[in-house]
Amino acid sequence: MASIPVYYYSSVSNLTGRFAESLAARTGRAVFQLADAAVRHSEPDGPWVLLTPSYKAGNADEVTLPAPVRAFLRSPTTRRRLVGIIGSGNRNFGEYYQAAARELAVASGRPVLFEFELSGTPEDVEACGRILDDLDAALHEVSCTSTE
Ligand SMILES: Cc1cc2nc3c(=O)[nH]c(=O)nc-3n(C[C@H](O)[C@H](O)[C@H](O)COP(=O)(O)O)c2cc1C
Repeated sequence: MASIPVYYYSSVSNLTGRFAESLAARTGRAVFQLADAAVRHSEPDGPWVLLTPSYKAGNADEVTLPAPVRAFLRSPTTRRRLVGIIGSGNRNFGEYYQAAARELAVASGRPVLFEFELSGTPEDVEACGRILDDLDAALHEVSCTSTE
């Protein structure tokens, strides 16, 4: 059964990246870093999940979604294939906690699948891995049904 890939962005502090690597190690799931220009300029060939931190920019528009994620989402095909969002944040940011993941969920109509702080705990990795495994199974069923 195919496992849905996770495209993530992580800054130099690499907190989100550590979570993504743990997720990959737990399940063998493919993870791709959007800081890498080649990844950013590609298009997922099927359903994919976004993992993004929030960065409150402090500008009038309150844009919290990191620029590399916004660049990746410029492709209509990529946007259509997005099935869910995972957020990394920090509760110290109060009302902006997980703002990027939550705002994108509203704008895209896709669900926030899981949220964690910083690089997450081993329990977070386990819980998120189970959610993605369930999603794999659901997508597998849909693809089997549609070919019946
Ligand atoms: C300048 C700055 C702004 C941030 N803004 C937010 C925010 O608005 N909401 C939030 O939940 N976390 C916010 N965070 C916390 C980061 O999203 C969190 O630490 C994340 O794990 C960073 O991931 P990274 O190290 O992979 O870039 C901010 C962190 C920094 C340094």
